[in-house]
Amino acid sequence: GAPVKVNIGKIEPGQQMVAEWRGQPVFIVRRTEETLANLGKLADTVADPESKESVQPTYVDPNVRSIKPEVLVVVGLCTHLGCSPSFRPEVAAADLGADWLGGYFCPCHGSKYDMAGRVYKGQPAPLNLPVPPHSYETDTTIVIG
Ligand code: FES
Repeated sequence: GAPVKVNIGKIEPGQQMVAEWRGQPVFIVRRTEETLANLGKLADTVADPESKESVQPTYVDPNVRSIKPEVLVVVGLCTHLGCSPSFRPEVAAADLGADWLGGYFCPCHGSKYDMAGRVYKGQPAPLNLPVPPHSYETDTTIVIG
């Protein structure tokens, strides 16, 4: 499939947009400073903190799984059986477990991911949401693929 250009300039902090690439949803999130600070605290809580087993290009920062810290780009398909997880930022996550700081929740079998698409330990999903190949054409335009 051809690469896809996406304008990410209108994503508000804390919000996501959904693009499509090769027939798959791609979640793009503008993360807040608070969210980024939380990621560092979750190293012992997620199953593959450095994405050693998970799909991730070598040019992303392994700590935040992105090129620019604030902009997360992940394929929106659960690594268990391929359902599309729903975006549950911090506030909405509270009723799904007090120890979960929010991220993505898979409605099929309940896998929880953090705001870097890293799966928590003990979930049905074995791996982090894949980070697709992508690059910045301008500050507000990314190319996926
Ligand atoms: Fe997501 Fe099973 S497909 S938890």
